[in-house]
Amino acid sequence: MSELALKTQEDLDNDNSIHQPKSVDISHILAFLDGETPQKWLDEAVKNLPIIIQDHANCEKKAGGTAMNLIFRYQSQEHDELQRKISQLIREEMLHYEQVLEIMAERGQQWEHLPAGRYASGLLKHKRTYEPQAMIDVLIIGAFIEARSCERFSALSKVIDDEKLARYYRYLLKSESRHFEDYLHLAQSLSKEPIDERVAFFRQVEGELIRSPDKELRFHSGVPDWK
Ligand SMILES: [Fe+2]
Ligand SMILES: [Fe+2]
Repeated sequence: MSELALKTQEDLDNDNSIHQPKSVDISHILAFLDGETPQKWLDEAVKNLPIIIQDHANCEKKAGGTAMNLIFRYQSQEHDELQRKISQLIREEMLHYEQVLEIMAERGQQWEHLPAGRYASGLLKHKRTYEPQAMIDVLIIGAFIEARSCERFSALSKVIDDEKLARYYRYLLKSESRHFEDYLHLAQSLSKEPIDERVAFFRQVEGELIRSPDKELRFHSGVPDWK
């Protein structure tokens, strides 16, 4: 897995090597989210790992694309911190994308078209349509998606048999939890008003998407309900 030897700045700073992942405390992530992943989702995910891996690849690419839109849309001086933090995030998401492609190749898994699930659109449909509130909502939604990804990588790493994949999921916790913190910090610092109410609103919407029945299995899907 030669590409996995590529290191992000964060890896170099923390020596968070993919081969020797340190345990990462995600208690702040669990406190931020409205509930943990239901067991029924984990059971189906373990039985359908190729779908989870394919959708994970899609998610990394989408995370990079969404972030790229942010740095093109918001580029005045007041967005200096956003430009810097989101540029780093894009680099890391695209590295993750490459890494997941490598994992798929190693597993002999062919790329398959997998339509997006309901999760991101279920959050984004609540985005306000006027600025700067639209930007604040996208940043808050980004924080929830990163936080949930972290929670799911951690949960999956404890139940899958493939130890190499489990190690990779644990390796991702560090950067994905920092992405969560960066998105939330940017939302707070760029908003002229407190964002607590908006965060509470999206917490409830996100929790509902995770807890309610879902006809599709995806990385961020709800409780499997197709039998
Ligand atoms: Fe990522
Ligand atoms: Fe991320």
